[in-house]
Amino acid sequence: MFPTPSQSKLPVKPIPGDYGLPFFGAIKDRLDYFYNQGRDEFFSTRVKKYQSTVIKTNMPPGPFIAQNPRVIAVLDAISFPILFDTAKVEKFNVLDGTYLPSLSFTGGYRVCAYLDPSEPNHTSLKSYFISVLASKHKDLVPLFKTCLSQMFINIDDEMGSKKKANFNDPSDAMSFNFVFRLFSDKDPSETKLGSDGPAIVDKWVGLQLAPLATLGLPKFLKYFEDLLLHTFPTPFFPVKSDYKKLYEAFYESSSSVLDKAESFGIKRDEACHNLVFIAGFNAYGGMKAWFPTLIKWVGTAGEELHSQLANEIRSVVKEEGGVTFQALEKMSLTKSVVYEALRMEPGVPFQYGKAKEDIVVTSHEAAYEIKKGEMIFGYQPFATKDPKVFDNAEEFVGHRFVGEGEKLLKYVYWSNGRETEDPTVHNKQCPGKEIVVLLSRLLLVELFLRYDTFTVETDALPFGSSVTLTSLIKATSI
Ligand code: HEM
Repeated sequence: MFPTPSQSKLPVKPIPGDYGLPFFGAIKDRLDYFYNQGRDEFFSTRVKKYQSTVIKTNMPPGPFIAQNPRVIAVLDAISFPILFDTAKVEKFNVLDGTYLPSLSFTGGYRVCAYLDPSEPNHTSLKSYFISVLASKHKDLVPLFKTCLSQMFINIDDEMGSKKKANFNDPSDAMSFNFVFRLFSDKDPSETKLGSDGPAIVDKWVGLQLAPLATLGLPKFLKYFEDLLLHTFPTPFFPVKSDYKKLYEAFYESSSSVLDKAESFGIKRDEACHNLVFIAGFNAYGGMKAWFPTLIKWVGTAGEELHSQLANEIRSVVKEEGGVTFQALEKMSLTKSVVYEALRMEPGVPFQYGKAKEDIVVTSHEAAYEIKKGEMIFGYQPFATKDPKVFDNAEEFVGHRFVGEGEKLLKYVYWSNGRETEDPTVHNKQCPGKEIVVLLSRLLLVELFLRYDTFTVETDALPFGSSVTLTSLIKATSI
């Protein structure tokens, strides 16, 4: 609960910051954000300048894609959770922030992730998907293990021939294969998608998120890129036939999942466009950014952590007689390492919500009044690396959430909610939350059952990181 001004002992202050001149202020902030400063520096210089973790700023894309780029940014662990309070903030069309991509990308429907929980369709769609996911519970571990085995075979082959192996491509192929098979009981290669699924989804998601991305081109091309990606809404036509192919592949292969939609009062074609979005954008898109990030943090943590993880994983698997739900639950270091990577670099770093009423938000130092209708924006890496909550907040500490450390899990927000809370039809928390944590643990388990240690080289991508495995040492004892 958030204190009202009279309950709060903290002084109510005006929100500092500057939107600049209409139009020009938004362009200046956009250039600072993408090119002159970069994301983290953009926020840290403003926090320093205004001596506040709640500030006014413009957020990209701005003109001519977003009508109103002005936001109140919440940049600490205490103010950030205002975005989870759906009684106070409206989550109508704010998935991508201050703009909504053309609905042609989603078959003309506003899919679940764009809906506010007060809309009846949010309840139908979210309960439908929670029910679908529950019905798939027993398939998760065996299916993901099968997909991982193929991924490691591909990685070993590349490692053998080139002495290093790219992780992103096999991880993307594995994630798409897993998600498609989870919902459709069919391998995508048996459909008209063949092996093109990941490339098609990349293009479709990429066009929707282009206004939020930079390609990292040489500096002298910044105005060109800004004009190309951030100035005009991206059209649907370049991906129209690909989307049709994707939709038809799901439509033809997911009969049992789509049959279920009727009992939730959802039309078959609306259910299928939602299924494509959940499978392609939410699940595959999330995993595409997240799995390489997880491998990056574990890889750079070094050999000592690797040997502790390998010991824990191998001894628990031996004790339990295999990789079971119960075995995964017992791996306290493995669990902590996954949470720590989610804390360091959440797969989806931005959240938005519009104030439904005048509200007071508190940071560590002060209380601020936000007016009804103002857009609140949270940059999650600043909230989950808040030095007033986490010791050595910028450092990856594998054991952070072991034992007493579990108490800090309420400050891990990657799923658009606290790690200690659950997704429901009343909130906007990711219904894949438990699955993502489970699959992340499984990825580490299968990795350290096969290998003793590994090293990585990494590079930033528009969303997530590119990861190359530079050495991979086969397990000496299991
Ligand atoms: C690493 C992978 C994933 C990440 C990082 C992730 C993250 C998130 C986040 C941050 C949100 C909230 C978006 C917002 O409103 O601001 C969200 C929503 C959602 N996610 Fe996930 N997710 C992942 C995987 C999945 C999976 C596997 C599924 C389902 C199979 C899923 C289904 C959804 C759905 C349906 C929503 C919308 C919830 C609502 O409208 O109430 N996600 N996810």
